[in-house]
Amino acid sequence: SAPPPRYRIGFSQCTNGDAWRQAMLAGMKKELSFYPEVSFRIKDAKYNSALQEQQIKEFLREGIDLLIVSANEAEPVTPIVEEVYNRGIPVVILDRRTTSKLYTAYVGGNNVEVGQQAGYYAAGLLRQRGRVLEVRGAPGSSPAVDRHRGFAQALAAYPGLRLVAEVNSNWERPSVLERLPQVLRQHPDVDLIFAHNDRLALGAYQVCKQLGLERRVKIIGVDGLPGVRGGIQLVQDGVITATLLYSPGGEEAVRTAMKILRKQPFAKENILSTMVIDSTNALTMKLQTEQLGAQQQDIQRQQELLRAQRATYSSQQNVLYVLAAA
Ligand code: FRU
Repeated sequence: SAPPPRYRIGFSQCTNGDAWRQAMLAGMKKELSFYPEVSFRIKDAKYNSALQEQQIKEFLREGIDLLIVSANEAEPVTPIVEEVYNRGIPVVILDRRTTSKLYTAYVGGNNVEVGQQAGYYAAGLLRQRGRVLEVRGAPGSSPAVDRHRGFAQALAAYPGLRLVAEVNSNWERPSVLERLPQVLRQHPDVDLIFAHNDRLALGAYQVCKQLGLERRVKIIGVDGLPGVRGGIQLVQDGVITATLLYSPGGEEAVRTAMKILRKQPFAKENILSTMVIDSTNALTMKLQTEQLGAQQQDIQRQQELLRAQRATYSSQQNVLYVLAAA
């Protein structure tokens, strides 16, 4: 039988240095193991949009059949992604968008909705009255823009809720430790902090603790990862009050890419749903993700077994061949 066509997928990742991106990659690799005919390469732009542009150009030179991209910042990365698309190479945008409609499919959460849900949850927690501070993701990255827009929209429905301060970050905890203390000293009466991810939320908690504010200030994060420093654990430990689930979507991205490459029907917008994780459901979420992890390990063991059996089979074929030739 004819060998299956080989596909080359290039993945341009804005950063690969945190647990959420690691979970994304693990999901991709798991899904890719079902498509041995695919060669997959990742380039890590390390939060540098100029580097990301260069790396996508490298992909074009080396040759790819499909690009998966998480744009570090929407604007600067848009022209090169449009160029890829215009050359007829399908583009799957994963999590962080460009500013353009020129892409084949999107996989990821609806970040306006993530911000809105955070706003409604905050209103419930504060009984519609209080002062709110927002710790935003990196300026110019689409989730930071959209989470802010959704959050502000939701708060606007409650005249008793005021957004009194905003702090920009680079998505990582040290930037909060550096910038938040000064702002919080100016606004010691803040009741709630919405941080655009759980790493920032943990940083916000640490700053509140330094200033003796950790008992009064409630914190909401985003991501809801399982694992030791993940958002689910932070909720269980009472470090943050809630987090909005934001799935990394690695499996879904590869599945969509394969549909496109195999010319099967696919959806252009593949929105991964969000939900509030708080003390009422954190344990359930934790048990569920642990069970999922165990199932994934079972699948891996089965695949290894299958590989071993194939190897035995082909070596037996060789023995038969040698015997027949003798
Ligand atoms: C991981 C991350 C997540 C966040 C997402 C937004 O790199 O910072 O914490 O939800 O990117 O793109």
